[in-house]
Amino acid sequence: MLLDVPDKCGGPQNSADVFLLLVIKSSPENYERREVLRKTWAKERQHRGVWIRRLFISGTSATGFEKHRLNKLLKMENIENNDILQWDFHDSFFNLTLKQILFLEWMERWCPHARFLLNGDDDIFANTFNMVEYLQGQKGNDGSKHLFTGHLIQNVGPIRHPSSKYYIPVQVQESKRYPPYCGGGGFLLSSFTAKTIYNMSHYIDLLPIDDVYMGMCLEKAGLQPTSHLGAVLLSLYR
Ligand SMILES: *[C@@H]1O[C@H](CO)[C@@H](O)[C@H](O)[C@H]1NC(C)=O
Ligand SMILES: *[C@@H]1O[C@H](CO)[C@@H](O)[C@H](O)[C@H]1NC(C)=O
Repeated sequence: MLLDVPDKCGGPQNSADVFLLLVIKSSPENYERREVLRKTWAKERQHRGVWIRRLFISGTSATGFEKHRLNKLLKMENIENNDILQWDFHDSFFNLTLKQILFLEWMERWCPHARFLLNGDDDIFANTFNMVEYLQGQKGNDGSKHLFTGHLIQNVGPIRHPSSKYYIPVQVQESKRYPPYCGGGGFLLSSFTAKTIYNMSHYIDLLPIDDVYMGMCLEKAGLQPTSHLGAVLLSLYR
């Protein structure tokens, strides 16, 4: 790990005070996107009596001197904002699963009781207020029960065209079908489900497509993702 924010949730004991932790995947060079998010929907604040906290999760970009330079900038950015976790792996599309699992490992250690998470990319817009209201409306679920919701994708399988961004050779995954999963742009989950996914990840080989991998972990745990675009209110700039 290169950059850490161990006190983000007030320590493991106090982490139950964090109602919604925004966990945003961002590469070192995306400084401007992070700045926009910090000032807009991902601002840390209290809403309806509960705390919203923010973390960016990052790997490293480039090589040699440029990598070193970007790491130094990110370090300075973190001194100012206290919201970046960075690990020393190449931040690329096919390493997103690794990033996701490293985050879940971090969470187990430093923020185990945060109630809900929004996991998303740094190019989405999310209505955090509506999300808090939606989550507070989950009767009987204070984060200790299953929740995994977002843009649900079902009945698809690996793409076998080598020219596709999502190409998965048979050698990587033999199965012709993917389990139901939520598109990785943004999804909401409970702390219970985050822990369960992390647990399952010990038993499933990492598949480079992170959102599908989450679906595989859920399936192994016997849990279903659900579709709730209306509640999540995400839009993608892409
Ligand atoms: C993932 O990160 C590791 C460690 O930096 C690197 O060796 C590997 O090439 C990366 N994989 C991809 C697909 O970028
Ligand atoms: C995963 O969950 C199982 C069943 O609850 C438990 O026995 C096991 O210790 C857990 N493994 C990890 C790595 O947390």
